[in-house]
Amino acid sequence: MSHPLQDLQSAALAEITAAADEQTLEATRVKFLGRSGSVSAWGEQMKTLAKEEKPIVGKLLNEVRTAVTTAIEARAQQFRSRKESGALAKIDISLPGAPHEIGALHPLTQMLERSIEIFRRMGFALADGPDIEDEWHCFDALNTPPDHPARTEQDTFYLPDGRLLRTHTSTVQIRTMQSAPPPIRVIAPGAAYRNEEVNATHSAQFHQIEGLYVDQNVSVADLKGTLEFFMRELFGAETQVQFRPHHFPFTEPSLEVYVKSKALKSGEQWIEVCGCGVVHPAVFEAVNKARGDKAYDPEKWSGYAFGLGMDRLAMILFDIPDIRLFAQNDLRFLRQFA
Ligand code: FA5
Repeated sequence: MSHPLQDLQSAALAEITAAADEQTLEATRVKFLGRSGSVSAWGEQMKTLAKEEKPIVGKLLNEVRTAVTTAIEARAQQFRSRKESGALAKIDISLPGAPHEIGALHPLTQMLERSIEIFRRMGFALADGPDIEDEWHCFDALNTPPDHPARTEQDTFYLPDGRLLRTHTSTVQIRTMQSAPPPIRVIAPGAAYRNEEVNATHSAQFHQIEGLYVDQNVSVADLKGTLEFFMRELFGAETQVQFRPHHFPFTEPSLEVYVKSKALKSGEQWIEVCGCGVVHPAVFEAVNKARGDKAYDPEKWSGYAFGLGMDRLAMILFDIPDIRLFAQNDLRFLRQFA
């Protein structure tokens, strides 16, 4: 004859197997294992049993509770995996994937990458400096004292603490020489900012590539050779390059570079693309003072520097009529350069 607890176990297991869904299974669990469920009720009854019966029934009760709990968990697991495979069956793996939109580089980035590649071939390394600058790096060290008219021409945006948004990348000339002795051969691409009236050719934020070469016996001929090579690599072998006298406080002599090429839309027209010159001794002296040494002795070292307007170069190369198009994020414009 079987013990009533064994009958209870058989009844519970049968109900668990028969449970068709999770709700029914939960009701079965409460019925047998809940606080007032039949297995728990047996726990209460234990108190009334004779002393010698207690360990035997106690052991049996534990076995029944474990068997019922295990069976419920196994059945619940069956329901869970059935649900998961049902969800998977709904995914149609034969459907074509969602197409990826293929992006492209911004024309200014393309321009930048082409320029860097050309200068790298000539042995220039990359240098960098902050967009937020102090007046000393932007003007004073570049031989442009507070009363110099160039400060008005390059009016910019000032922060409350007196720092400013750099008006040109020439600041990186100073920072590079402060941190390393000569010889130096670097380019420094980056943004520049001016308080400009914005029009088709002027923007309040634009991009330049600064160049600086300091060594012994550097001359205007080196400067011209470097920039002529760059312009011909960029705009085509037939490009004509012209150097016209100009003035920058930080170079002496100073020059402006013009290009003309039949391959360009501008055709017979000379277009200004760059400012440049031989580094002014006053710039070396300012750097020496900041460094506290004579590393850039103007008697020993000479150099040239240039500042290319990236946006203007890109406008010429890609025949873009308005500088404002670069920052408008209009896909109809950008897709033309993909
Ligand atoms: C300078 O900024 C000098 N720092 C360049 C230089 C460097 C001279 C080293 C000598 C030695 P300039 O103000 O001319 O010079 O600007 C250089 C180029 O930046 C211009 O030829 C032009 O292409 C570009 N540029 C200047 N202002 C703007 C503007 N508002 N919008 C777009 N491009 C500009």
